[in-house]
Amino acid sequence: MADVVSGARVFLGVSGGIAAYKAAALTSTLVQRGASVDVVMTAEAERFIAPLTFASLSARPVYTSLWDFPERIPHIRLVREADVALVVPATANLIAKLAAGIADDLLTAALLAARIPRVLAPAMNGAMYEDPATQANLATLRERGYEFVDPERGFLAERETGIGRLAAEDRILEGLERALARRRSLEGKRVAITGGPTREPFDPVRFLSNASTGATAIALAREASLRGARVTLLLGPTLLEPPAGIEVVRVTTAQQLYAAALEHAVGADLIVATAAVADWRPALESDSKLHKSGEGMTVELSPNPDVLATLGERKGSSFLVGFAAETQAHETNARAKLRRKHLDAIAVNDVRGERGFGTGENSLVLLWGEDGRRDLGRAAKSALAARLLDAVEELMRIGSRCS
Ligand code: CTP
Repeated sequence: MADVVSGARVFLGVSGGIAAYKAAALTSTLVQRGASVDVVMTAEAERFIAPLTFASLSARPVYTSLWDFPERIPHIRLVREADVALVVPATANLIAKLAAGIADDLLTAALLAARIPRVLAPAMNGAMYEDPATQANLATLRERGYEFVDPERGFLAERETGIGRLAAEDRILEGLERALARRRSLEGKRVAITGGPTREPFDPVRFLSNASTGATAIALAREASLRGARVTLLLGPTLLEPPAGIEVVRVTTAQQLYAAALEHAVGADLIVATAAVADWRPALESDSKLHKSGEGMTVELSPNPDVLATLGERKGSSFLVGFAAETQAHETNARAKLRRKHLDAIAVNDVRGERGFGTGENSLVLLWGEDGRRDLGRAAKSALAARLLDAVEELMRIGSRCS
């Protein structure tokens, strides 16, 4: 296989920790493998290592300030021209600023503006790494699609042994290669994704719904967009913000999702249905708020259209992936849905207890054909989105398609 690093344009951020010197060796490795490396350093990083070191190794200018070449708007240009942004080392402070959206220097501003894969290799004292504030910031960034090469346990600069040592260069290179391998894999493809819950009102202030947050759909939309696809996200009511750079069609009810899917999803190269669509809606919707009478009340429900089954009937050459939210007999039920809805693959999602809806993590198993099966494991939804698309792209390439 061709070396994905060769010819790649790497934005290499260096923040201020003792491991900054290891970024110099990494720069040299990347250059030797044929990458072009633009190094951006924070002011603190300059205390540990001189820009001249990176300039010599990369044979390119090193950027240390928003104001060095302001006419070139470096914080935008550098990340537009790069294939991937890698930060080695990423300090606790940098991670906290990124999680908060602070952009008070060139590195943080550029990373905030980046629409390319962002891979961070944290390095810091073990207590700082394990502090709940750092862990919460890492979880926030993971949820937003940042990738990490986790630090290792070992000898730290403080002469202690603990977690927080920068990952070995080989592991950083693997993280970089993974991000680069995916970068253009969906170029020219149109991807439609349904996500979030639906709301089925029975008066102006009350509705039936479920606990879906749309996090899986948002993670998939971000990942597909990073891979170069033109993405349309059909999204039910959620407080989560969809990523920039994709088309978002907001819907509230299952019927609206059905209409939006017919308009925007039919004909897409890949359709992924993650929406937790309410299967029923109140048969009657009152125009005014229903007042209590002290009596019980009965709400009659009518069935909603099955969006995915309809897409299955009209799938043409689309590759159609469903989700199955199950609490028991997971794979048997999911295989039945795979057949019934004419899907090419289905991701089984265990929604018992803490798992599934509304949490940062999930576990998925992908099923296809008669007996195709891949366990995608348990991970943050952003990581699972990448694994799911890797598997689906493989199936699309080998033409594993149901009729
Ligand atoms: N789905 C849909 N429209 C519906 C119901 C479900 O598009 N009205 C899609 C979901 O987005 C998911 C798949 O169908 O991709 C399976 O959803 P799930 O809720 O697991 O199953 P249901 O089809 O609703 O079947 P059941 O209620 O029997 O589990």
